[in-house]
Amino acid sequence: MPHDTSTLSYLSGFGNEFASEALAGALPSGQNSPQKAPYGLYPEQFSTSAFTVPRAELRRTWMYRILPSAAHSKFERLERQRPNSTLAAITPNRLRWDPLPLPNTPTDFIDGLVTMAANSDSPEGVSIHLYRANISMQRVFFSADGEFLFLPQQGRIRLVTELGILEIEPEEIAVIPRGMKFRVELLDSNASGYLCENHGSPLRIPDLGPIGSNGLANPRDFLAPVAAYEDIDQATTLVQKFLGEFWACQLSHSPLNVVAWHGNSVPYKYDLRRFNTIGTVSYDHPDPSIFTVLTSPSAITGQANADFVIFPPRWMVAENTFRPPWFHRNLMNEFMGLIRGEYDAKAGGFVPGGASLHNVMSAHGPDAKTFINASATELQPQKIERTMAFMIETHAVIRPSQYAMKCSQLQANYDDCWADMPKTFNKNQI
Ligand SMILES: [Fe+2]
Repeated sequence: MPHDTSTLSYLSGFGNEFASEALAGALPSGQNSPQKAPYGLYPEQFSTSAFTVPRAELRRTWMYRILPSAAHSKFERLERQRPNSTLAAITPNRLRWDPLPLPNTPTDFIDGLVTMAANSDSPEGVSIHLYRANISMQRVFFSADGEFLFLPQQGRIRLVTELGILEIEPEEIAVIPRGMKFRVELLDSNASGYLCENHGSPLRIPDLGPIGSNGLANPRDFLAPVAAYEDIDQATTLVQKFLGEFWACQLSHSPLNVVAWHGNSVPYKYDLRRFNTIGTVSYDHPDPSIFTVLTSPSAITGQANADFVIFPPRWMVAENTFRPPWFHRNLMNEFMGLIRGEYDAKAGGFVPGGASLHNVMSAHGPDAKTFINASATELQPQKIERTMAFMIETHAVIRPSQYAMKCSQLQANYDDCWADMPKTFNKNQI
């Protein structure tokens, strides 16, 4: 008998196979595609990895649905062709944004989507969008371009997907596989947040190396939904994102009509507050890779297509140490956002709902006020509380969109953070 997956982990291994059925006996026994499936359902395979990748990287799910996904009319390009995603001219400058305002006219998830930045010189990479909505979708959506990582910043949302329902709130995340159909419903009057679209290999939890068999995001905390289907015969618009453009077709029915499924290409959620944060208990502090929740590997060993990293509440106990993030210049490209609270490298200017971008070799670090305070403070064990910042780190340069460069939320004076760094050098005093 298939088991209920609502409390089971997803990412404890790529070989995991989950199964769920909303009607008893809907999953065929012992085979994927019988001549006649139970209840007259249509078997359909959904693959988000190539068939021939190593077994450990295979992602596919068998769905048993009321009508096959193929039963749709011709897609027509939507008049509003892109989520404001045209990229701007490249810039090596450090960039930072205030939060975008919430919409003041009825706006669903699709209409409120804005692309802030994307990799453009890589066939993989990421796109980083902001979403803002004040009504639930009546339409159904999928992206052929990548996997969606949702990071709510305001408002709870319900993701009604082909495989079941996930509800998330700020400080939780959800991941929806590339191509999986879903509807975003609002559980509060407004919803806004960050959305990382991963065009590379599917996100997974990182290897732990010397950390051992426990720590960081623990596999048992990743939750997949149970099967839930809509048997609704009414006209439904299906929108897809395809190479950045929006296309729509009409269906005679709800496409969220999967009665049973088994496989490992599934949507899942994770509560960032469950992250087992690891840091120094002596001096200095480790690289921020110690805060990696999920990673999308690239073809270069150890160099991610995209890392999803968080800066959660944590104790700071390092002795004789400059505790905030140090000054640095990196190979990797960093897009940051703030879910709540304050980020310990900045005394101001980086607020919840805002964002920053530091590309390859761009020099950055604590602002002057943070540096001065952290250099002089008497070090005691200290807990950083009520904060949740995140970073998408990718190996290819992230280009801001034209929208991001023109919007009034782009801060004109970000460089001023470091304009008044005091010169403390004195060759006569060690
Ligand atoms: Fe950085």
